[in-house]
Amino acid sequence: MRIPVIIDCDPGIDDVMALLFAFVRTELDILLITTEAGNQTQAKTTYNARSFLSYMNQEIEVARGLEQPLFQELEVAEDVHGESGLGDVIFPEPDFEESSRSAIQALYERITKSPEPVVLIATGPLTNIGALFLAHPEVKAKIRYISFMGGAAVGGNMTPTAEFNVYVDPHAADIVFRSGVPIVMSGLDVTHKAFLDESDLKEIEEIGTELSDRLVELMKFYRRAAKQTAFHEEGFATNIRLHDLCAVAYVVEPNLFQGDDCYVAIETEGKLTKGTTVVDYTQSLPYPKNVHVLHTVKRKEFVDRFIEAIQKAEQLIKGGKRDV
Ligand code: RIB
Ligand code: CA
Repeated sequence: MRIPVIIDCDPGIDDVMALLFAFVRTELDILLITTEAGNQTQAKTTYNARSFLSYMNQEIEVARGLEQPLFQELEVAEDVHGESGLGDVIFPEPDFEESSRSAIQALYERITKSPEPVVLIATGPLTNIGALFLAHPEVKAKIRYISFMGGAAVGGNMTPTAEFNVYVDPHAADIVFRSGVPIVMSGLDVTHKAFLDESDLKEIEEIGTELSDRLVELMKFYRRAAKQTAFHEEGFATNIRLHDLCAVAYVVEPNLFQGDDCYVAIETEGKLTKGTTVVDYTQSLPYPKNVHVLHTVKRKEFVDRFIEAIQKAEQLIKGGKRDV
């Protein structure tokens, strides 16, 4: 039985790796792609999603989401993902139009019409999903869980304590984390362990296809920015963290990961801590556990699956259908 999923993203270099993996893995029945502002503006992330999926020879509804975070100004990550949002790599012009529906409308209609509860995979700020829950709270009953890349129990990559996706729209994250919908959180705790090292990158280079060459270019661009946010972990400046891929890989192969059920809340006001995910690992707060927080990944298997997906993607690019 294929898993009905919707991917909400802000492509974004690591979002592209997540999309590639999702479209190759036929366990997933991908109903819809929605985009929002995050790594770049909503116009650029929407274009990038259509452009990459056109390159992958995939035509699917791509619905444009909100242009701004719910209650604050947008801050994009141009220093990390570049002016286009996809580094200095050019994918072809999209060969299909974006949806005539807004992301909120498409999310609402696809979720309510799905015969089975849907898994939402979120790899950008939670703006669209927060807005969806405000506008149509009844859809929560049709969502199996949300596999979200974002947050961190320890540390941050936008401030000392806040991770980018939550930092960009903490109010949306607060709505989603208090929604009662089960959440599996791939925060920095696990995504910092989900990396490609130099030998992995060389293995991808040796695949020697136009796709693998482009992905390597994207990852080398991505790695340059990482040096400015070093956590001084061994290899941080050269390892390439596939943050968003974790949110997809968990849905397909949860056994690659380990996590703990915790109470998690979002700081929306703190002068220094706005955007922090407060993860109650020590169970010191009197609140129910609402999130499965991932902390460990079988890195070698994770990387092997990603490399297999790059190799298999060739069939799609050459016109093969997703054999579902
Ligand atoms: O902190 C990493 C997250 O922020 C990833 O989703 C990346 O694409 C950026 O959106
Ligand atoms: Ca992202």
